[in-house]
Amino acid sequence: MTRKQAPRWHDTRWYRPPREFLDDPLNFPLHKTQEIGEIFSFDFYLRRIFVITDLEAIRHILQANHRSYRKSPAYGQLKLALGEGLVTSEGVYWRRQRRIIQPVFRKSHLRALYALMQQETQRYCTSLRYKSGQVLDLAQEMMGLTASIALRTLFSAQNPADQAEMYRIMSEAQEWIMYRTTHPLIIPLAWLWPRHWHFRRDMQQMDQMVYSLIKARRRSDHYPNDLLSMLLQARDEATGAQMSDRQIRDEVLTLFAAGHETSAVAMSWTLWLLARHPQVAARLDEELGRVLNGNMPKWEDLPRLQWTRQVIEESMRLYPPAYAIGRQAVGEDCICGFHVPRKSIMFISIYAVHRHPRYYSHPSCFDPEHFAEAAVKTRPRLAYMPFGAGPRMCVGNHFAMLEMTLLLATLWQYFRFEVVSDHPVVPHPLVTLKPKYGIRMRVQAR
Ligand code: HEM
Repeated sequence: MTRKQAPRWHDTRWYRPPREFLDDPLNFPLHKTQEIGEIFSFDFYLRRIFVITDLEAIRHILQANHRSYRKSPAYGQLKLALGEGLVTSEGVYWRRQRRIIQPVFRKSHLRALYALMQQETQRYCTSLRYKSGQVLDLAQEMMGLTASIALRTLFSAQNPADQAEMYRIMSEAQEWIMYRTTHPLIIPLAWLWPRHWHFRRDMQQMDQMVYSLIKARRRSDHYPNDLLSMLLQARDEATGAQMSDRQIRDEVLTLFAAGHETSAVAMSWTLWLLARHPQVAARLDEELGRVLNGNMPKWEDLPRLQWTRQVIEESMRLYPPAYAIGRQAVGEDCICGFHVPRKSIMFISIYAVHRHPRYYSHPSCFDPEHFAEAAVKTRPRLAYMPFGAGPRMCVGNHFAMLEMTLLLATLWQYFRFEVVSDHPVVPHPLVTLKPKYGIRMRVQAR
């Protein structure tokens, strides 16, 4: 079979990085897809980059032929903080870890974790009442809230000082890793440099905290119902093996890093969208009043919060927290007849797929009807993929949906959120799709 060349974006040279792509990795794929096609490529330094929104090609890369692709090189930097956790590991090691960790997120465990989420949400609502009437940065508020839920569900951590210190270390580490990922000149970590020293000292402190929690848990007979206990007890079903302290440390930090910012970003966009769409909000008020009548949702209430779920899904369609998925071809490949050279980078734009007019009747409007049962049935499954697809799909997707449903149903019943007219709200694609200047809104207790 002859292998065609994918349509090329204008003939860039390796020494002239394509600024359009770097400057706007959200809208570049969205617009160029319509102009050039749903698979196209360009050169970036010495690598070929494929921009992909074609669902058949996405299925090939993430599902059917996933073994021929690894995570893109950017993930290498993450290992400095997260070690060999689920997000950063590959191959046989990743498969084994996934086999052990997947059952940790089963329904009976999620139910136990839900009780911890409720307590943390209650605590947050009490503190937010004191700020009633103020204009707050909701993006920052949600980040603090989801971080405290993550730490509570991971370690049952209730001490605000410990929570704050862990949160500080992880946020600073993430920021520094992002800097290293996006700067072409990376100084080796072994070199003496104040920033390196700072990072190493913080990670040592984090390790000390996490290892002492693991050791204390292993020594005691009492296993509280949290993720740390679940990870300590988890076994590989094939071999019966359990994880070492080091593996548990890597997975704990990975779950924290992968889990809290994504949910915070999704919650911030959801509250902002709702505040600007009174008709959608009125229907939410009606559902919450009818099902919950002013109470925080119990586990049994969740299946009846249909519109609440649709609102969250629609918000993640327009502003997917993970706006793109990156992979690197291990060897040569052929996708939909197009030749893929070895080591090519595949940039799968979730943002552009989610705004494709073929799958959504009015792609740029906020309309949770896009997720009514009948509408969902008319689309291919991959037309909506905020949690990715294939064997590396988000392991925390049910955890995240649970958390966000609880947060939205509770916050929306107890507070009113008003947009502040002169504040610009602009999506900023970094690791996740954060709002560039935050989201400032007036919060009023109801
Ligand atoms: C709205 C919230 C979330 C979104 C949008 C999201 C999105 C994603 C996506 C798109 C991937 C796949 C990345 C890839 O294929 O390269 C992923 C992987 C992952 N997510 Fe999430 N995530 C969310 C919440 C969570 C939570 C709450 C946790 C943990 C409690 C979590 C843990 C993970 C882990 C460990 C992986 C790596 C899985 C693997 O490679 O086996 N995520 N997530």
